[in-house]
Amino acid sequence: MLAKFFSYFIPINVVKKNSSVSKTLEVTWNNGELVLDSKNTNYSYGSLQRILRKGLKYIGFDRIRKFENILILGVAGGSVIKTLTNEIKFTGKITGVEIDNEIVEIANKYFKLNEIKNLELIVEDAFEFVLKTKNKYDLIIIDIFQDTTMPNFLFEDYFINRINYLLNDQGFILFNTMVISEKDRIRNLDYKKKFDGNYSLRMYPKVEVHNELFTIKKLV
Ligand SMILES: C[S@@+](CC[C@H](N)C(=O)[O-])C[C@H]1O[C@@H](n2cnc3c(N)ncnc32)[C@H](O)[C@@H]1O
Repeated sequence: MLAKFFSYFIPINVVKKNSSVSKTLEVTWNNGELVLDSKNTNYSYGSLQRILRKGLKYIGFDRIRKFENILILGVAGGSVIKTLTNEIKFTGKITGVEIDNEIVEIANKYFKLNEIKNLELIVEDAFEFVLKTKNKYDLIIIDIFQDTTMPNFLFEDYFINRINYLLNDQGFILFNTMVISEKDRIRNLDYKKKFDGNYSLRMYPKVEVHNELFTIKKLV
């Protein structure tokens, strides 16, 4: 394909849309790879996929393969879903929750998420979803950004307690955060303190320049 070939020399834009959540959404051929970006950051594939893959590696691909239910909050183009299904060969159930219908259309058209058999994609605010769901999960991936901004609810006790409740014993949370300012650094340190001895938390700073990852295991 010509666009893919030329993208090794210069990025080639495929589509650009306005979005109320992410300002703009752009699908671009970049270095031979189709990526999805918001106005100021990479959303799916490219560096974002590398970041979450590292998080999954820390948890362990073999362990993940044995899980039954995975919840993904923030789907965008679905690069972590591709890592789970194509690379890790996860065959259990994946539930993806995404607030932005525009992005779901892009994900289906350009990244073929609708062809993944074990994925249920729900268009809803993740906060509303976690309040309502009756299911429990072995792995919860939290990857919610509105361009470069992380909504406050992600760091509030109410949401954290609810996520912890939805997690099976021995289950994991993988939380992707962006640390740009001193305020963000302190916010993450405060977040860390919210988990007591029933959880084993690890923090991985500077996964790619501005990203800090958390893995949190529920021990009991
Ligand atoms: C970095 S992207 C997710 C990338 C994805 N995990 C992947 O593997 O490719 C962040 C996504 O969070 C979504 N988002 C923002 N606020 C949300 C909310 N309250 N509920 C659900 N999704 C939200 C954005 O629309 C965007 O698609």
